Amino acid sequence: MDVYEAVTSRRAVRGFLDIPVSPEVLERVLSAAAWAPSGSNLQPWRIYVVTGAPLTQLKKLATERVANREPWDEREFVMYPADLKSPYADRRAAFGLERYSALGIVREDWEARQRAAIANWDCFGAPAALFCYIDRGLGMPQWSDLGMYLQTVMLLLRAEGLHSCPQMAWSQVRETVAEILSPPDELMLFCGMSIGYEDPAVKYIRTGRAPLAETVSFVQD
Ligand SMILES: Cc1cc2nc3c(=O)[nH]c(=O)nc-3n(C[C@H](O)[C@H](O)[C@H](O)COP(=O)(O)O)c2cc1C
Repeated sequence: MDVYEAVTSRRAVRGFLDIPVSPEVLERVLSAAAWAPSGSNLQPWRIYVVTGAPLTQLKKLATERVANREPWDEREFVMYPADLKSPYADRRAAFGLERYSALGIVREDWEARQRAAIANWDCFGAPAALFCYIDRGLGMPQWSDLGMYLQTVMLLLRAEGLHSCPQMAWSQVRETVAEILSPPDELMLFCGMSIGYEDPAVKYIRTGRAPLAETVSFVQD
């Protein structure tokens, strides 16, 4: 698979088959992903890969918690500004519409949206997940390094025939994640990522992108 194909075939997959991912494949992907760039080579990512019984237990605890409408854990970072402005707010709304209409859910059906959202904490059925932490003492440039690393992982997963879904949703139940992973205190959870083989029966609408001219300016003669 060439890089263009890996980039364009990667999408947030929200339905996985119950087929295990071999530990060798995960190790190969994560070994290669270590070559992702980072400012001054800090390599600020701290990754936990979870499969098998610990993942089953985590999914159970998290989905029960969310289904019981227990409050989210205290936020350690702001996911989106409260006053999200245009064009970001418009793009977010368009994404929500695409995501839920693919599942036949109308915007006003809050219950159905909640049910669909709960699938986040079941990893959308995926048999493997990773959790990406960062040291609390690190700053914005190091957070951007995490993004480069995670995208590198997701592209390598495509090369292995696997799909993924990055999930900040896991940060909302970070204490439940910590129960299973016992990370050191200095680490903060950025996001989880579900990993597995796509379930082709799950309907989706390919999330669109803004026209190039909205996000890129070519400055030239
Ligand atoms: C850092 C990050 C966090 C995300 N968190 C979630 C999440 O919690 N749940 C989810 O279903 N999708 C999540 N997504 C997926 C985005 O919704 C998705 O990438 C975006 O809508 C573009 O769609 P595409 O990836 O399918 O092209 C996240 C993506 C990123 C990069």
